[in-house]
Amino acid sequence: MKKLLFIFLLLPYFLFAQFTEISIVKEIKSNKRGLVVSAHALASEAGAKVMRMGGNAYDAAIATQLALAVVYPQAGNIGGGGFLVGVKNNGEKFTIDYRETAPENASRDMYLDKKGNANTDLSQNGRLAVGIPGSVAGFFATLKHAKLPMEKLIQPAIDLAEKGFALTEREAALLNSQTEFFNAHNKTQTIFQKKEMWKQGDLLIQKDLADTLKRIQKGGEKAFYEGKTAALIVAEMTRGNGIITMNDLRHYKVAERAPLVFDYRGNEVVSMGLPSSGGILLAQMLKMSGFENLSAYGHNSAEAVQIMVEAERRAFADRAEFMGDPDFISDKTERLISDEYLKKRWKSFSKNLATPSADVGKIIPQPKESTETTHISIIDKDGNAVAVTTTLNGLFGSKVVVSGAGFFLNNEMDDFSIKPGVPNMFGAVGGEANSIKPGKRMLSSMTPTIVLKDGKPFIIVGTPGGTTIPTSVYQSIVNLIDFKLSPERAVNSPKFHHQWLPENVLVEKNFPEFTIKELEKKNYKMEKVSQIGRTELIIIDEKGNATAVADGRGEDSVAVE
Ligand code: GLY
Repeated sequence: MKKLLFIFLLLPYFLFAQFTEISIVKEIKSNKRGLVVSAHALASEAGAKVMRMGGNAYDAAIATQLALAVVYPQAGNIGGGGFLVGVKNNGEKFTIDYRETAPENASRDMYLDKKGNANTDLSQNGRLAVGIPGSVAGFFATLKHAKLPMEKLIQPAIDLAEKGFALTEREAALLNSQTEFFNAHNKTQTIFQKKEMWKQGDLLIQKDLADTLKRIQKGGEKAFYEGKTAALIVAEMTRGNGIITMNDLRHYKVAERAPLVFDYRGNEVVSMGLPSSGGILLAQMLKMSGFENLSAYGHNSAEAVQIMVEAERRAFADRAEFMGDPDFISDKTERLISDEYLKKRWKSFSKNLATPSADVGKIIPQPKESTETTHISIIDKDGNAVAVTTTLNGLFGSKVVVSGAGFFLNNEMDDFSIKPGVPNMFGAVGGEANSIKPGKRMLSSMTPTIVLKDGKPFIIVGTPGGTTIPTSVYQSIVNLIDFKLSPERAVNSPKFHHQWLPENVLVEKNFPEFTIKELEKKNYKMEKVSQIGRTELIIIDEKGNATAVADGRGEDSVAVE
């Protein structure tokens, strides 16, 4: 009787605990307990929970991504794609590429109008913008590195979708800001639209998504790429101008690629190679600014920022000309990151003046890329590390929800050069190497990265931010290694970004005014933006003490095993 009374009294607490958000934790230090840092407290907790159940870092990566697909629908996904970089405690390094691919009926000029002009509305919004989703295949490819079955890893996401979670003020405002786009791009009512405004504390319950996740739980990968879920995706295509077929979905395959590995000041950097430009850009930028004695200048001093901006300029010019899906183009990675090539590239650097962008590359108008996307960094108690960046591309991707299946589809097709020379939503200019072909992966900027010291994970880092991703990861690494900033400062101090075209240098609004003025004197066009990236960082010292920092720019949060 007493026991029953006790349960009865505690019931409201358990119900409330299910529905309310876990408090946001910005930094945790830990010795020999796993750490997860992601864009959402409930997703980080899902990863920590499966580690408590006996899972390792790779179990946590799967569970956290699946939970993000529920609680962070603007970028977390099962309708998009991503890249995972792993380093195991036995030294094994691997990557999984689950980037979306172009449908079989896609073609080079599919977004050009009769006059040959690029129609970016079609590549960015609605059903024609969708690439074949890779995330679910990515989760199953990761499973061979994990310890628990998918059945258990997907359960936290099912619970979150079925029971709901309470929206924060920011999340409610974000959904409200998207109503007109959700209305414009969906023929049937979605769970994300409602008559009244969303407000803080509202429960977001996603029954259709819970059912989709349960089908995957029961039927595995095939339950997404074949059968009911696939049929619902194809049916959604027919509600507009979509072209994805059952055949496209059935044939989607992940690619397990060798990581891009290079030395930076005695540390081994392990990052993602093509079809992400991220690793190559990171290597180029670190190596070019590495020719200078960066630490002799202060962090965010005019001298240091100038050097780094000029490294960014040269790297991004190469991105536009040479980078694309390595299965479709001649892969120039080795040359592009060689010291010999980069020394030649650096010869035109002058401390006196900005180098005009036209001097470092053939001017190819750059497509603009969205700043959404999301990143997860994880270390487990045994020293296995993983960095995962995943995306729908734009905010809520194509804005199309698969009717009856409850998840957003990506607008990743916009990451191709839809008209070589025309900027995408991030302003990145692409060339022929990144033109559309059926089955091809669109070039990415995602840069999940693990830095090793003496063969052991030292830094685990990544961020969303489109083309600002590689430059933010670059700054995080330089901040830690060259400027010796604390992990918290490495993440939260003001960042800058340059990408060759346009010529502007973006700086966060709290960037040092003195540096801005000094750079303007040297012909730099400085432009203030509200924020750049949301970096999720874990750093581990020689004794195995780990510190995880969630970016202060958002509601990102750390969880401990
Ligand atoms: N869509 C963002 C990226 O792949 O970089």
